[in-house]
Amino acid sequence: AEAERAQMRKATDLAAKLYHHVLVATPYGEKARQYLAKRDVSPEAIKEFQLGYAPASFQFLLSFLKRRGFQEELLEKAGLLSTRQEAGVTKYYDRFRDRIMFPILDSQGRVIAFGGRLLGDGRPKYLNSPETPIFSKGNHLFNLHRARSHIRKEQQAILFEGYMDVISAWQAGIPGCVATLGTSLTDDQARVLKRNVETVILCYDSDQAGQNAAARALELLRKQECTVKVAQMPLGLDPDDYIRRFGGTAFKEEVLSAALSLTAFKLESLKRNYNLQDEDERMKYLVEAVAAVAELPLVIEQDHYLRRLAEEFGLSLDALKEDLRRAKKRKK
Ligand code: CTP
Ligand code: MN
Ligand code: MN
Ligand code: MN
Ligand code: MN
Repeated sequence: AEAERAQMRKATDLAAKLYHHVLVATPYGEKARQYLAKRDVSPEAIKEFQLGYAPASFQFLLSFLKRRGFQEELLEKAGLLSTRQEAGVTKYYDRFRDRIMFPILDSQGRVIAFGGRLLGDGRPKYLNSPETPIFSKGNHLFNLHRARSHIRKEQQAILFEGYMDVISAWQAGIPGCVATLGTSLTDDQARVLKRNVETVILCYDSDQAGQNAAARALELLRKQECTVKVAQMPLGLDPDDYIRRFGGTAFKEEVLSAALSLTAFKLESLKRNYNLQDEDERMKYLVEAVAAVAELPLVIEQDHYLRRLAEEFGLSLDALKEDLRRAKKRKK
């Protein structure tokens, strides 16, 4: 089985090299080159991330790898080919067609899988490699291999949702970034992060899906005892959109540096459930907020957030402290 896995890695590595070659050095790659240029992906980034293009053919990778002696069955198991049944016979064809290819590397820097993006609209926008003997989505993080030395040195990693977010950040001189692979963060991925860094800055898309995913990721990272911060962007933007619109410096100064602590993030999320213009609802929010503050382990933290609430809502700190005391008592 190890021999088979070695074969799969070899095939996947060759596929990455072929897709990259098609993108940078052939007429077939023209449309994809234009697409990436339009999205401000630089030639340096294309090289660094070994981006590629899978042509719109059912036979392109298949015939290339067959000529090099690989069996179709093995290539299918490696997630490079798909199959269909034709009159009781299994037919193989290229899984990735007409897509920009993002190679996914393992901890040793070997290509083990791909994400593939359509050049236009359509579904699915991204097609990823399936689970294979050399790749399980839940164990790997996009760009970890490249980011590892940086995040270890800084004891801080930025966690994004998407490939393009990582690439944009890299272009903006922010190398310590990783992304999940089209699923929510898993326990294993959280553990991998914890092994490498103390602090994780969560920087998910600012749509509802992204915010929900951030809330789940938060809990998993807390369970691993990471320090978690949550970066937020103007509504509707993802990190790549933000960097392209406002630049890398703004991203560092306005988004990353302004990342909220876990508690501040919770208090902000809670707010969305209430209409704070309404007096009754404002009071309900404050009751919830004080209850959340009561959960904090350190008294200095509690004091800090109570002061902020007092200031924000023009209340007396003494009143909030009294309510905090009562909230704790109710819990017991
Ligand atoms: N994803 C996926 N399959 C999809 C959609 C998304 O696997 N059908 C994954 C991809 O890894 C993608 C990430 O989820 O990078 C975030 O999704 P989304 O925000 O929709 O994509 P972006 O990364 O923003 O990609 P783009 O900017 O190219 O639209
Ligand atoms: Mn999204
Ligand atoms: Mn996105
Ligand atoms: Mn998007
Ligand atoms: Mn995007």
